[in-house]
Amino acid sequence: MKLKTFGIIGAGLVGEALATQLNKVGHSVKVANSRGPHTLQTFEMNTGAKAVDLSEVVSEVDVLILAVPLKNVAGLREAIFGLPAEAIVLDACNYYAWRDGQIYVDQILPAAIGMFRIFTI
Ligand SMILES: NC(=O)c1ccc[n+]([C@@H]2O[C@H](COP(=O)([O-])OP(=O)(O)OC[C@H]3O[C@@H](n4cnc5c(N)ncnc54)[C@H](OP(=O)(O)O)[C@@H]3O)[C@@H](O)[C@H]2O)c1
Repeated sequence: MKLKTFGIIGAGLVGEALATQLNKVGHSVKVANSRGPHTLQTFEMNTGAKAVDLSEVVSEVDVLILAVPLKNVAGLREAIFGLPAEAIVLDACNYYAWRDGQIYVDQILPAAIGMFRIFTI
């Protein structure tokens, strides 16, 4: 297996579970949340992942995983433009009307990004 570098945006239930398992099998894992890496010290100890800020989490990764409330993905557009051209995006975000309100899928991410949905419908 070729080891890869993963960036994960979101350090909640999904981000923590994925960071733990990816780290366990030897991948390099960076994680960012909205409040900054200084809030993720326990997360780093629990998962073995490195906490970084948003600009760094997309830098030089093979795979970027989105694990945030779907309504917040629109605010990540600028950061996501820093992704390497060959990187793929795995989107674990679910849509819940009670949480996410009204959003339009084509307003969320640049169409050119190679994106796959995971753990969700
Ligand atoms: N939980 C599940 O079993 C499950 C299963 C499948 C899919 N999903 C979907 O996966 C996504 C994440 O679920 P979760 O349960 O892990 O959520 P969660 O526990 O609420 O965690 C959300 C994470 O996203 C971060 N975040 C929010 N806005 C952000 C932003 N603008 N920039 C960077 N980080 C941001 C939060 O950081 P801060 O705390 O710093 O704001 C937090 O670390 C959701 O869309 C959910 O519907 C969840």
